[in-house]
Amino acid sequence: MKRNVEEQTFRQLPISVPEGTTHALFPTPVKLFELEEDEMNAELAVFFAGNPRFRKADQAEMSDVHNLMEYAAEVPALTRLEGLFLACLKNYCREIGWQGEFDLAMQMFPNVAPKGHYVPSHNHVSHISAVYYVHTRPSERPLLVSDESVRDYWRPDEGALILHDPRFNASLQGGWQYHAKVFPRPGVMLFFPSFLWHEVTPHQADEPRLSVAANFTLAYRNLPPYERHQRFSC
Ligand SMILES: [Fe+2]
Repeated sequence: MKRNVEEQTFRQLPISVPEGTTHALFPTPVKLFELEEDEMNAELAVFFAGNPRFRKADQAEMSDVHNLMEYAAEVPALTRLEGLFLACLKNYCREIGWQGEFDLAMQMFPNVAPKGHYVPSHNHVSHISAVYYVHTRPSERPLLVSDESVRDYWRPDEGALILHDPRFNASLQGGWQYHAKVFPRPGVMLFFPSFLWHEVTPHQADEPRLSVAANFTLAYRNLPPYERHQRFSC
């Protein structure tokens, strides 16, 4: 009987809780740069149109087995693009708090996407990734859309770069799903962590969409003495 009286007393008490504090931990920094590089884009477009490598049936599958800088001697625009990537990388690293002296491994590879081409969902094996758009079909959509509902995720938007919520299984747990879409235009350079899953939806323009992707792997040069570096084979 006594227990029932206590329960009744609690039921009568008003419930009031503090506001609490929110910590937006583990954000995913994605940075957009809008560059004015018409001349460079024109030279790169001529390079992509004229090089027989980009007309091969398997050019998309083979796009990341080379480094575009192999052609830098004959295509000066590639050296300029590399310089732009590095300048923006410096900016991005400063923003995410990576500071110091590094050994940098950098790969630049092409994305020549003919009509109807798409890129399945994937991420990159490096620390930081970037993409620069040389030629795209004009889009009426904003450059970046990040406030869509989950229903909009399934709409077949043309030529969109979809960025997925990187949290483990986030898209399987109702209420946590987030995505963002980039509707690229020439001159846009986008930086993101390489772990971020992304995909590209098909476009219907007659001309190929042209972009250059870059991967960056950074190793600190001032290693602490207890980290012994050695060659290892297995
Ligand atoms: Fe990618």
